[in-house]
Amino acid sequence: MTEIKGARVLVTGGQRGLGKAFAAALLEAGAETVYVTARRPRPETDPRLVPLALEVGDDASVARLAEQVPDVDIVVNNAGATIPNGLLGNDVAEVAHLLDVNVLGALRVTQAFAPVLARRGGGAVVNVHSVLSWASGAGAYGVSKAALWSLTNSLRHELASQGTQVVGVHLGYTDTDMVRALDVPKNDPRDVAAQVVEALLKGESEVLADEVTRHFKAALSGPVEGLAVA
Ligand SMILES: NC(=O)c1ccc[n+]([C@@H]2O[C@H](COP(=O)([O-])OP(=O)(O)OC[C@H]3O[C@@H](n4cnc5c(N)ncnc54)[C@H](OP(=O)(O)O)[C@@H]3O)[C@@H](O)[C@H]2O)c1
Repeated sequence: MTEIKGARVLVTGGQRGLGKAFAAALLEAGAETVYVTARRPRPETDPRLVPLALEVGDDASVARLAEQVPDVDIVVNNAGATIPNGLLGNDVAEVAHLLDVNVLGALRVTQAFAPVLARRGGGAVVNVHSVLSWASGAGAYGVSKAALWSLTNSLRHELASQGTQVVGVHLGYTDTDMVRALDVPKNDPRDVAAQVVEALLKGESEVLADEVTRHFKAALSGPVEGLAVA
């Protein structure tokens, strides 16, 4: 269980999309301050939201952020990107860059802030995966989210000794810029964020945010053909 009332929170990619919804839900649950990052941060009107610059693919940028944010109780690794075309339609360098952002970005931030969380009593790390950690057909993005899922599960073991709760979040299409062009049913980001807040308060390890996500997690125990996206 993680106390949110009075907490200081870091949300990477927290100025738009799901990250913005996480920041709002955490403030609503009583967080004192939410540091919201963007590659080019914009001013916020709510003084409880503190915009800061972060490029998760850049060690120096993460180090600068850690200097600017000495106290944090909850880290939400939300920042993420995608690239079009399948695995055979992208150069390996492009795939490697996506893995660097989506997987190693979360690791960089967690490494930078784990000692801070420990000093403040444990706190929590939330990593935003996808139903595409499990479902096939999403090319490099799916590879990155499967790797991030594994990273989260190992971090949960490594951070247990310092009392840090680690929450992995799986979700299908959610109404943000990332999938703006797709005419499909989408989750409301506020609903996903509310489930994450509940998981933090209850001390849970995983959020399966919607029906499609619960379907694909169950399908992991069936034939591999069942993991194909329709
Ligand atoms: N929307 C969906 O359907 C869906 C489904 C499953 C999982 N997700 C995951 O949810 C998370 C949030 O995505 P979203 O839907 O809110 O997408 P989005 O609207 O495209 O927002 C992406 C966020 O990630 C940040 N970001 C991207 N690349 C970055 C980098 N190299 N360094 C630092 N920040 C970076 C962006 O910050 P800037 O402001 O600097 O651009 C932005 O805040 C991602 O991890 C995504 O994979 C989304």
